[in-house]
Amino acid sequence: MRAVVYKGPFNVEVEQVPDPKIQHPNDVIIRITSTCICGSDLHMYEGRTAAKPGIVFGHENMGIVEEIGSAVVTLKKGDRVVAPFNVACGFCKNCERGYTGYCLTVNPGFAGGAYGYVAMGPYTGGQAEYLRIPFADFNALKLPGGNEFEDDFALLADIFPTGYHGAELAHVAPGESVVVFGAGPVGVMAAYSALIRGAAEVYVVDRVKERLDKVKEIGGIPIDFSQDDPVEQIKAHRHGDGVDKGIDAVGYQAIQPGKETEAPSTVLDALIQVVNPTGILGIPGLYVPSDPGGVDPHASQGRLLIPFGKLFEKGLSLGTGQCNVKRYNRYLRDLIIAGRAKPSFVVSHCVPLDDAPDAYTKFDKRINGYTKVILKP
Ligand SMILES: NC(=O)c1ccc[n+]([C@@H]2O[C@H](COP(=O)([O-])OP(=O)(O)OC[C@H]3O[C@@H](n4cnc5c(N)ncnc54)[C@H](O)[C@@H]3O)[C@@H](O)[C@H]2O)c1
Ligand SMILES: [Zn+2]
Ligand SMILES: [Zn+2]
Repeated sequence: MRAVVYKGPFNVEVEQVPDPKIQHPNDVIIRITSTCICGSDLHMYEGRTAAKPGIVFGHENMGIVEEIGSAVVTLKKGDRVVAPFNVACGFCKNCERGYTGYCLTVNPGFAGGAYGYVAMGPYTGGQAEYLRIPFADFNALKLPGGNEFEDDFALLADIFPTGYHGAELAHVAPGESVVVFGAGPVGVMAAYSALIRGAAEVYVVDRVKERLDKVKEIGGIPIDFSQDDPVEQIKAHRHGDGVDKGIDAVGYQAIQPGKETEAPSTVLDALIQVVNPTGILGIPGLYVPSDPGGVDPHASQGRLLIPFGKLFEKGLSLGTGQCNVKRYNRYLRDLIIAGRAKPSFVVSHCVPLDDAPDAYTKFDKRINGYTKVILKP
């Protein structure tokens, strides 16, 4: 089959690789109909991780069941399904409690498993024609047949649940004021989720015009950090007050406002300043235990300088980590089916699998409005 293969920094190619095979009786093989490129793929693409050339990318996958293992109970050939980016067993101590991003079975010695991702286990990615889904009864979420809502459902693999996870970690409740840093797909989905949960005011900070336009489209308040300090801008909007809750959808590759350089703690720092005392920070943005390309000796060891004393003084709490997609995807699917959520507004480009190298280049540079790309094999 054809697949998107990592060749080295800033280089992917579409190549022939072996077809996936049933390896365990509870596996299924799906024919991919939609597979998205993610901001997290760019960490590998840019050569900032230990990913070795040869890895097939793709952790946001949906498609049609082609082949089923002998022990599969709930799925049959022809079912349309979406797979959470987390590979999880469903029966370990963490899965049982809903922490499927931290499954203890699928990738021993590490926090959880995922398709096509460095250090996340031996699960080949789905930016390809076919994909093996392990523990399929647990991992494959059934969708209505046909092709209605295809691009909405594709976002159930990661960014819609991950954005929702940001809002859940921050305990966003009706009537609250919220700030989301980052208007990438995760940030926009976090803002959308905060609005679905009934937030009164949702500020979203970024500097990319097309992305801030999306924020406006859904009823959020765009804040352009290239114009002025985002904390000051939000406080000006709120007559000097801060906000109830904050979400970091940027992660360690944050750009220092006013400069072009990276400053991995800048968003955490701003959140601690702008969230009101007793508020909560939700941090789905990715931070790493070590970053060989880190901007200073602290950052390269994954140690960030943040005003922890201020956090204590304000009695803030925080939640972070990978999204446990299974915890949310069934309900978010049903919001889509009921017409109460339409996350595909964030999709900017749908292109054939063969165009992946060009799509990676443009998405990485955040040019031509590349916000969220779905590959159609
Ligand atoms: N927790 C999870 O399970 C999970 C899942 C998916 C993605 N992620 C992570 O979420 C983050 C966002 O993902 P994405 O796909 O939206 O990425 P993205 O790179 O497309 O978006 C990040 C956005 O942040 C903006 N930004 C940079 N510096 C900023 C600053 N100082 N203030 C405000 N905005 C700033 C950028 O302009 C960009 O638009 C990444 O770190 C990704 O790895 C986490
Ligand atoms: Zn993703
Ligand atoms: Zn498990």
